[in-house]
Amino acid sequence: MIIAQISDMHVAEPDTPHDSVFAGAASLSQAVSHLNRLDPRPDVLVATGDLVACGTEAEYRLLRALLAPLEMPVYLLPGNHDDRDALRSVFPDHDYLPGGGFLHYTVEAGPFRLIMLDTLVPGEEHGELCAERLAWLDARLAEAPDRATVVCLHHPPFRTGMRTMDGMALIGADGFGDVVDRHNQVERILSGHLHRPVTRRFRHTVAQTCPSIAVQLELDLRPQEGVGLTKEPILCLLHYWDGDDGLVTHTSYIEDYETRTVFDGKEWKIADNLWEATS
Ligand SMILES: [Fe+2]
Repeated sequence: MIIAQISDMHVAEPDTPHDSVFAGAASLSQAVSHLNRLDPRPDVLVATGDLVACGTEAEYRLLRALLAPLEMPVYLLPGNHDDRDALRSVFPDHDYLPGGGFLHYTVEAGPFRLIMLDTLVPGEEHGELCAERLAWLDARLAEAPDRATVVCLHHPPFRTGMRTMDGMALIGADGFGDVVDRHNQVERILSGHLHRPVTRRFRHTVAQTCPSIAVQLELDLRPQEGVGLTKEPILCLLHYWDGDDGLVTHTSYIEDYETRTVFDGKEWKIADNLWEATS
């Protein structure tokens, strides 16, 4: 069982300033090809927010076309760059999306239950889990206490030391933690937003962020605000489960590497890919 995760694609229309900086559409196209080529192929894909740049229907139509070749189900979650109504209107066949209100929902995925939480505050960069959203989460967790559960939300529920990003953090993170505290089945908390891979113990579980499909933020732990963009490789996360009692998270880089050295159990070989060398 593999739950793949991508985040912060920031898909924008061609020849726009956002696309010239983030190039999210081109990177997402690469990512879709990469995910389809994986062996074993992921069972499901979660996209943890900032799906598009400005939240327009035109951007969501582009996103839809880019995701169309995916050979696995994809579950979409809004981030601070998204627009609930535009997302809903372009993905009417994604019937897991509620018809109105917050875009939160549950997914049964093999041995796991995914709870997708909407942290969007329209027009704001920070996120929020208000009393209504926390009550919804508490109720969903209470109805399946014996089912291993992965909670996905765009804004991570912890501060990172990256000052600019901490300035657009999640309001209600303590309340979120109190809900998580009451439910031991929470196996993992998956977020995006930071455009960096970050991991932290969170109450009795583990919280982590998936880097961006588009562009990464420069690691900066200095006390002053300010943030840069970097050309670090784009990647996705593969949350792997083999029947043991925990999810194992692997990092999968998306750029193609022309050749690599592969050990097939007997000798080292130069090959285009591991599968060619060992199959
Ligand atoms: Fe983002």
